[in-house]
Amino acid sequence: MKNIKIEINLEVFESVSELPISIQNLMNKAHKARNNAYAPYSFFNVGAALQLETGEIITGNNQENAAYPSGLCAERVAIFHAGSQHPNMKVTSMALTAGSVKKTNKTPIPPCGACRQVLAEYEVKQEQPIEIYFMGETGKVVKSNSVKDLLPLIFDSSYL
Ligand code: THU
Repeated sequence: MKNIKIEINLEVFESVSELPISIQNLMNKAHKARNNAYAPYSFFNVGAALQLETGEIITGNNQENAAYPSGLCAERVAIFHAGSQHPNMKVTSMALTAGSVKKTNKTPIPPCGACRQVLAEYEVKQEQPIEIYFMGETGKVVKSNSVKDLLPLIFDSSYL
């Protein structure tokens, strides 16, 4: 028996204003997208903005459903849109913001496990890492250089 230690790297920015201008712009788009979330059940609104290599920005937000599991997270709404409309375009970065209507959230909120798995699929497909920036409504922003840092033991097609 031996132990395996897995190390991940994350960068923490004190606020949006510390980010590069292009990422501030991307995060602003995520905030705007969050305002259009359809979350009448959880009252938890999430916004996502994807930067494509062409410079185009695709946004998404969570879409809930009375049959709860039929709803979809903001990250998947955005990346499935990008995958369907721009199948050969690489995604360079993604900005995420999340918060409850019931309380102000200042803690950076990372994507859920299912979204990490979906993002990993696209990262493997495009053979290029996707930078992920995530935050609450205000406050610190965390940056991951790759989905691999958020989901170290990814399941991918190499196992099939
Ligand atoms: N949600 C997202 O949009 N992304 C995540 O990564 C976590 C959760 C949504 C799903 C649901 O509409 C609400 O947040 C509460 O879970």
